[in-house]
Amino acid sequence: VSDMLVDSFGRMHNYLRISLTERCNLRCQYCMPAEGVDLTPGHQLLSLNEIVRLGNLFVSSGVDKIRLTGGEPTIRKDIDDICLQLSNLEGLKTLGMTTNGITLARKLPKLKECGLNSVNISLDTLVPAKFEFMTRRKGFEKVMESINAAVDLGYNPVKLNCVVMRGFNDDEICNFVELTREKPINVRFIEFMPFDGNKWNVKKLVPYSEMFDRVVQQFKGLTRLQDHPTDTSKNFRVDGHHGAVSFITSMTEHFCAGCNRLRLLADGNFKVCLFGPSEVSLRDPLRSGIDDDGLKEIIGAAVKRKKAAHAGMFDLAKTTNRPMIHIGG
Ligand code: GTP
Ligand code: 5AD
Ligand code: SF4
Repeated sequence: VSDMLVDSFGRMHNYLRISLTERCNLRCQYCMPAEGVDLTPGHQLLSLNEIVRLGNLFVSSGVDKIRLTGGEPTIRKDIDDICLQLSNLEGLKTLGMTTNGITLARKLPKLKECGLNSVNISLDTLVPAKFEFMTRRKGFEKVMESINAAVDLGYNPVKLNCVVMRGFNDDEICNFVELTREKPINVRFIEFMPFDGNKWNVKKLVPYSEMFDRVVQQFKGLTRLQDHPTDTSKNFRVDGHHGAVSFITSMTEHFCAGCNRLRLLADGNFKVCLFGPSEVSLRDPLRSGIDDDGLKEIIGAAVKRKKAAHAGMFDLAKTTNRPMIHIGG
């Protein structure tokens, strides 16, 4: 383990998020504009071998958790092989995926065999018509099937990511909490964040304090759980419930101080923070035949440029970044 992954604030980055594709079978409003986004040509996306070579380099340098994102990671044809080869990397403890759950029920048994050991599923409403409005596609029942499939396959917890937007789903918070009563589901309410093309507006943001109040008013006995310092979420359990309830407070109480996350985008760009335009290509040097030491130098220098924290929600809303569909969260 080298100091390649330690930034100038002493944060060790042991969690790599790899976006596998810029495509998706949904069109969520908070993630991409209605007209879609420009797609990187296929030959400019990282191949299976390139992903594994870079994954290996990161894991041998201290990364012990990889999360696959997108776009929608399950639409990659080689998703089974990607999971198999990454999960076999010596030193990797967690291979996770964040998915919209549209095709997951069918694919998950194989993915589990290939070493996928943690699943986060996005679901923002429990009302089918609202699902169709938000995602501009049908599919609510399929996502519910996938959540049940993940529970049945023994994923524990199955994390549900719910982006809360005022006037859309803020009236459903307590219904989501109900899902934690009987099943090992961790419902996570996420503050709406600004990305290019998602029409972020502070009026649509439901702050953590307000979401929390709604839960406390309805459910007695909400116990704070011990969080890990690198958690994105503040975690709670309703007394007697099997699952947990969490809040991801990126906007009103950011958690940058404990950040351990780095990002590899589908086009091979390396991004040290979810926000901010600073990116460097790993694909280009890779394709020019660079050796591992050369790659480590590029990665280490980028990590050292990482800022202490993001700029705050109002500045973020004004800076150019990328659309969320390119970054994968
Ligand atoms: P676990 O690995 O299960 O803890 O999940 P995670 O929270 O790291 O990842 P997930 O893909 O489920 O993301 C949940 C939410 O957290 C999404 O809205 C992400 O955009 C957000 N998120 C993930 N990483 C970061 C980060 O580094 N900074 C900020 N501000 N938000 C993040
Ligand atoms: N704000 C907050 N969370 C978002 N996600 C996607 N777009 C946004 C946004 N604008 C979430 C998705 C997915 C995760 C990767 O990021 O719900 O679960
Ligand atoms: Fe697709 Fe997920 Fe983005 Fe929605 S949030 S458009 S499901 S990548």
